[in-house]
Amino acid sequence: MSADSIEVRATVAADAPDLEALYEAAFPEEDLLPLVRRLRREVPGILSLTATMGGRLAGHIIFTPCGVGRSDDGVALLGPLAVTPSRQKLGVGRLLIRAGLEQLAEANVRRVLVLGDPAYYRRFGFLPEYSILPPFDLPAAWTAAWQSIPLAADAVRIAGKLRPPAAWLQAALWAP
Ligand SMILES: CC(C)(COP(=O)(O)OP(=O)(O)OC[C@H]1O[C@@H](n2cnc3c(N)ncnc32)[C@H](O)[C@@H]1OP(=O)(O)O)[C@@H](O)C(=O)NCCC(=O)NCCS
Repeated sequence: MSADSIEVRATVAADAPDLEALYEAAFPEEDLLPLVRRLRREVPGILSLTATMGGRLAGHIIFTPCGVGRSDDGVALLGPLAVTPSRQKLGVGRLLIRAGLEQLAEANVRRVLVLGDPAYYRRFGFLPEYSILPPFDLPAAWTAAWQSIPLAADAVRIAGKLRPPAAWLQAALWAP
C-alpha cells in the first residue's frame, strides 16, 4: 500500500478501543496505555493525532505541552508514538511526526523534545539536547536519546529542567 493512502487526523473519543489494541501490539513488553489514557483524560492541551490506512487505525502520536524552568510555555514533548506492526516502515510514523511538527509550529511552539532512538528521530531533524534537561536523570547510555528540534528559526535558546504534566512524572518512563 502506498504512503498516499495514509490519512492523519485529530484523535477522537471513539478511537479509544483501537488505541488500546494498537499500544498492546506495538509495545508488547512495555505498558504505555496508562500514560496514554492519563494524557488524553487529564491534559487538555495535548496534540493527539491518529493515522489511518484504508479507514483503519494504523498509528498514533501525542505531543504534550510542557514548561521549562520558570517559563510556562513554548515547548512540547513528543511521545508516545506507536504504529501497528503490520503497518510499520510504510511512512505512518513519518507522517504523524511531520503533521504534528507542522501544527505545533503554527501554534507557536518553539521546540519539541523527545526521548527516543536517535537513528529514527535524527532523520526528522532532531539533535541531542543539552540545554533543556529531562525531568529525571537519564542513564548514561540514554544521553544521546534525549533530543530536540527547533520550530522557529529565531527561537531564543530555552534552558532549564523540563516540567511536564503529572502523567509524565513517573521515573519508569525515563529509565530502561
Ligand atoms: C518506531 C516506529 C514508530 C516507526 O514508525 P514507522 O511508521 O514504522 O516508520 P516510518 O515508516 O515512518 O519510517 C520512516 C523512516 O525511518 C526508518 N525507520 C523505521 N523504523 C526505524 C527504526 N526503529 N530505527 C531507524 N529507522 C527506522 C524507515 O525505514 C524509514 O526510512 P526511509 O525514510 O529511509 O524510508 C514504529 O516502527 C513503531 O511503532 N515501533 C514499535 C514501537 C516503538 O518502538 N516506538 C518507539 C517510538 S520512540
